[in-house]
Amino acid sequence: MTEGTSPLLQISPSILSADFANLERELDRIGNADWAHVDVMDAHFVPNLTLGLPVVEALQKVSPIPLDCHLMIEDPDRWAPSYAEAGAGSVTFHVEAAQDPVRLARALRSAGARAAMALKPGTPFAPYEDLLPELDMVLVMTVEPGFGGQSFMADQMPKVTQVREAVRRHGGEVWIQVDGGVSASTIEQCAEAGADVFVAGSAVYGADDAAAAVDRLRELARSHTH
Ligand code: DX5
Ligand code: ZN
Repeated sequence: MTEGTSPLLQISPSILSADFANLERELDRIGNADWAHVDVMDAHFVPNLTLGLPVVEALQKVSPIPLDCHLMIEDPDRWAPSYAEAGAGSVTFHVEAAQDPVRLARALRSAGARAAMALKPGTPFAPYEDLLPELDMVLVMTVEPGFGGQSFMADQMPKVTQVREAVRRHGGEVWIQVDGGVSASTIEQCAEAGADVFVAGSAVYGADDAAAAVDRLRELARSHTH
């Protein structure tokens, strides 16, 4: 593939694996990434509790790159638009928790964010294909949401391909994100399956040189994208 026609591949390091006592410095370590992935967990939708709106508002003020907020929370219809209003570039809700995903996606877009829908490993894509025109990204989870550092679920790759084919059929520009266990040894199969936005927590923040890890992941993804 020649330069210029190659698809946009983006890396979104998850700060879940960063040092929570030094988040500004941790964001600066990944200034060469496309997004900073922020995992919001409410101890109800997932069995873990991380951070919420006040912290996202603070991060928004100091982050060198746009925030990619992944909301693993109950009742996103009620809470998600505030993250868009806080200035997050992208806001992802879980469709399993949403009451009215179309209305929610429209609210996110009208608040100025990209609207994204996430699917847990056990959630099929087909029932939600009709939502594609309302969405800017679909997140295919490659672990059960809740914790960083889990093993990559290769059995989610057919779902990534299914979303990619649906996006081609529908036209438009919907990005496909993978999240969970993405590393130098698993990113190639994600790219081959059709993903174009790659979340990596432990693979980036576990490295001595986080920025180098971001570049390496981007290179590996690029060489396996068709
Ligand atoms: C899991 C989170 C992920 C997690 C990824 O629920 O959504 O973003 O931080 O961490 P790794 O890359 O370590 O699997
Ligand atoms: Zn995430």
